[in-house]
Amino acid sequence: MLVEYGGPELRSGDRVAWQVKVWTDLGESDWSRSGVFELGLLSAGDWSARWIGPVEVDGLPAGMRPAMLVRGELELPESAVLRGRLYATAHGIYEVFVNGERVGDAELTPGYTEYRARLQVQTYDITEHLVPGRNALGAVVSDGWFRGQVGLPRAHDQWGSELGFLAQVCATFDSGATAVAGTGAEWRSTRSTIESADLIAGQSVDLRHYVGGWSEPGFDDSGWDPVTVGDHGYDNLVASPAPPVRAVEELAPVSVLRVGGGHVFDVGQNINGWVRLRNLGPEGTALTLTHGEAIDATGDVTTSHLDVDLPFLPEPLPAGQVDRVVSAGRPGEVFEPRHTTHGFQFVRVEGHPASLGVADLTGVVVHTDMTRTGWFRCSDERVNRLHEACVWSLRGNACDIPTDCPTRERAGWTGDWQIFVPTAAFLYDVAGFSTKWLRDVAVEQWGNGVVANLAPSPPTESESGPLAGLNGSAGWGDAAVIVPWEIYRAYGDRRLLEEQWPSMVAWLSFVERLAAGARHPERVARRSEPLPHERYLWDSGFHWGEWLVPGADLKGPDEFEAFRRADKADVATAYFAYSARLMSRIAAVIGRSEDALRYQELAERVRAAWVAEFVLLNGRLQPDTQANHVRALAFDLVPAAARSDAAARLVELIRAADTHLATGFLATPYLLPVLADTGYADVAYELLFTNTMPSWLYMIDRGATTVWERWNGIDANGKPYESLNHYSKGAVISFLHRYVAGIRLPDDVDPAYRHFRVQPVPGGAITWAQAEHDSPYGRIESSWRLAGDMLELEVVVPPGTTADIVLPDESAWTVAAGRHTMRGSAGDPARRPGI
Ligand code: BGC
Repeated sequence: MLVEYGGPELRSGDRVAWQVKVWTDLGESDWSRSGVFELGLLSAGDWSARWIGPVEVDGLPAGMRPAMLVRGELELPESAVLRGRLYATAHGIYEVFVNGERVGDAELTPGYTEYRARLQVQTYDITEHLVPGRNALGAVVSDGWFRGQVGLPRAHDQWGSELGFLAQVCATFDSGATAVAGTGAEWRSTRSTIESADLIAGQSVDLRHYVGGWSEPGFDDSGWDPVTVGDHGYDNLVASPAPPVRAVEELAPVSVLRVGGGHVFDVGQNINGWVRLRNLGPEGTALTLTHGEAIDATGDVTTSHLDVDLPFLPEPLPAGQVDRVVSAGRPGEVFEPRHTTHGFQFVRVEGHPASLGVADLTGVVVHTDMTRTGWFRCSDERVNRLHEACVWSLRGNACDIPTDCPTRERAGWTGDWQIFVPTAAFLYDVAGFSTKWLRDVAVEQWGNGVVANLAPSPPTESESGPLAGLNGSAGWGDAAVIVPWEIYRAYGDRRLLEEQWPSMVAWLSFVERLAAGARHPERVARRSEPLPHERYLWDSGFHWGEWLVPGADLKGPDEFEAFRRADKADVATAYFAYSARLMSRIAAVIGRSEDALRYQELAERVRAAWVAEFVLLNGRLQPDTQANHVRALAFDLVPAAARSDAAARLVELIRAADTHLATGFLATPYLLPVLADTGYADVAYELLFTNTMPSWLYMIDRGATTVWERWNGIDANGKPYESLNHYSKGAVISFLHRYVAGIRLPDDVDPAYRHFRVQPVPGGAITWAQAEHDSPYGRIESSWRLAGDMLELEVVVPPGTTADIVLPDESAWTVAAGRHTMRGSAGDPARRPGI
């Protein structure tokens, strides 16, 4: 695993095939099949194509700007093309065509990055598209993230105000000759049939204006405008370590109902993507497609819960997600927008004169094409549905970056991925996806070490914008440390830790400085003189804190202001201690022994400060909340002697809430594991199976197909609140993988499941459970079923790994690769957790 290339020095465009052979005690293997990788254009000097821009109508507001076409031709020698490559990128989103055909299957290219520092270039194999003689290249370019609306404030023109396109063709002929051509001054531009395209607002198309053949050679573009040639340099061009975004699945609607004058389609699942509509009606039919996550009492699509209502806005901004198409009445005409995406389960189609059926529309699921690596099923269907909803929330929020939601914000919130990444890494291969994102986290970092809330970070929401003061929060900024660590644990690549190390150091230094140098005014007022531990207390700056605790909604600007100023040192200091401890471990992994020591000492001091401040003389923790107890136990902040009391108090708090959770954003993922680890697996199971608000099964019982942002995402009257597709609370399904099915990756052993543990904790009314995980070494399986008072467990341990297997009766084995069946007492059924 992770054997680095050690062959001759590689140059731009080189293609390397590699094979593997192994020698074992059983002899020598054959050569494996070949793997292949190819290099892109490595340096600015490899580019001769120039950045071009279309000539546009000035002054159109964001959300209403058309997509533009650019085209150019190139002459190739009359000789067969052995190899053709197209390298392309854009300021905006582009689709590229060669000789009339769309090239590649990636969507929303070039993807979303911090464009100033990192703009992704896609490489396409166009060998089959090129012909001897004249060839044409064309592209559709729209606003995308580059200059379209992004994030909650609907900021736009965040990376520039002009569209741009850059493409270079490199061809090699059987004669050995090569040719290079690309975008340049002789290209032409015009408006496309896409009258407006915006990731948030939606896409409008008038198919009557479609002119065929525009990307074919010989097309008469004399009526088109010239292009502008820009100098944006080539230094920020990079390749992506992540798989591309693709249309990965299609869903047939489960129903279509006539509501008012329109049709409401239900694709049966809340997704990120778009629809394909096949029946567009006679020429001139103007259709409006409104996409939403919920329907109201009349069965109509509602999106008002996704409107943006900020204190400083004169009126709420609409949710967007509205596509429009005017039919040209051509046979076989299809509407499929590719320059926008929507988070939706329901689509209202208005304006069609005829009656539409389910066969007229398809839901197209669009996300980063990650490889699935984890599965779970058990005897309880609702738990299985909860698991599926969490998987779909990950799928709905992996659109080149990890987003908070695919609707209201679509932003790369650091805290959200920090919370969810361990769960995600069980379900899908998110190594490249996270690596790509972490590079943006690092380049976005402010000079003082603040990790911006979002990566990529539109300037309006970052250091230079009006919302700058909301950055640098504990639990969000700590993503810079926690995400690389979790990725390392799951996949074992130390290079990521090395690459991210400076970013982690900068973040922790910022936190250290703030802790030592600034005090919350209330603490200053409370104490006649500062106490020595206070210099390790992080009680200044802005913090989201536990965030979204059930019932703790912030109403209006005054409440937000009080929230903004509140002392959240319990949360922030806990993260300070946790990140410092992780950095000590990371330093040890990458051979920085002095740093390992330094951060270990720091972690201990911060932990001691946390104890001094938040553990009372009687051993009680303050604040006396579920979240604080969960975090303190999960991050090992509670002194050993006080642990069992703290766990008992957590259970009291849960019981006092009538066996309901009261955790918000940050502590929820740790709640059930902490209970199971402290001897309260029964309470964990009771919470898992609670189906009144707030609980996970409340969502499932109300038909959720993705995880809601708020515990009350849909209230008793069916009214939706905020996003219905936020994966953060879905991190609970790690409990299903690690405790119910029992596949665990203890963090004190080799990463990447080189050694792991299978220790199921059966409970509730679950009679069987199974999980599979494709670890870097191969597939791990765990499946158990109860037979009377016995539990039978079957475990598959992949080649090259070992596992500890622990049954509920505490019998334990350490086993090597292979399939193992164990039987043991399932424990006294009366005492089994949660019965
Ligand atoms: C987002 C989150 C994010 C939070 C910060 C919300 O608007 O949707 O998921 O982490 O703000 O508190």
